[in-house]
Amino acid sequence: MEKEEKDKWLLAGKIGKEARELGISMCKPGTLVLDIAEAIEKIIRESGAKPSFPPNISINQIAAHYTPKFEDKTELKEGDVVKIDVGASVDGYLSDTAATAVVGGAEIPLVTSVKSALDSVMKIIKPGLAVLELSSVIEDTIRKAGFSPIVNLGGHGVGRYSLHEGEFIANSRNYSDSYLRKEGVVAVEPFATTGGGYVVDSSEVQILSFLGRKNVRSQLGREILGFIEGEYHELPFAKRWIIQKFGRLADTELKGLVATGALNEFNVLKEKDNGIVAQFEHSFLFDEGKVTVTTL
Ligand code: CO
Repeated sequence: MEKEEKDKWLLAGKIGKEARELGISMCKPGTLVLDIAEAIEKIIRESGAKPSFPPNISINQIAAHYTPKFEDKTELKEGDVVKIDVGASVDGYLSDTAATAVVGGAEIPLVTSVKSALDSVMKIIKPGLAVLELSSVIEDTIRKAGFSPIVNLGGHGVGRYSLHEGEFIANSRNYSDSYLRKEGVVAVEPFATTGGGYVVDSSEVQILSFLGRKNVRSQLGREILGFIEGEYHELPFAKRWIIQKFGRLADTELKGLVATGALNEFNVLKEKDNGIVAQFEHSFLFDEGKVTVTTL
């Protein structure tokens, strides 16, 4: 890998880690989730990067894909289990990393189990490894602690301007059939829950991504779509960001753009049995046979 490319992956990882730690440090009773998201976005931008995707701040039975809505008033409460999943983009070279905080309290066994699962992954991960090896250690660590891995969420390959590509790194051996790439970046993200271990779409959507150019009738809709393509490429973005820039009317335009197939929606993901969910994630760079955890 060229040095310049490698340096960008590493820098994206370092900024992602700082953003994750800032988010975790803000998980206190009474804090607005919107303030946490905006602080994360600010530290990423001030470091000269852009968010890889909107900060996901997912509480309790929400597993992923929640980012605060425009003027969101949600406050963290004592005991909330909060997943902070963030990443930075340096010229399209991405990081993706997550951690879980318990608001106002000590770590709980559910959280410890996922942290241990990721620690075990870090001990054995290497380029070209059978994903089954990782899936097994994740599943076993979580089940031994008395919880369920979430089987339909998992890690993934990462490319330039491409957050999910190539191998799927399942959290359960039954879903595992690929091999890790030899060169490049992968993100591994174990999830555990007190429920059965399966997430479903809720009806709420706060995150979207660009799919393709379409004929759009409204002037504002065309303007918004052009902005999205130029600014985010195919990376996910927050509805909130568009409303901030284009005003409240943008909400309706976004719905129209989804209907024409220009945009893709990411529904907020909820554990099917309303189990509490915990998650940890690191990004790993493989280069000339060596492994670097870019978000450590
Ligand atoms: Co990820």
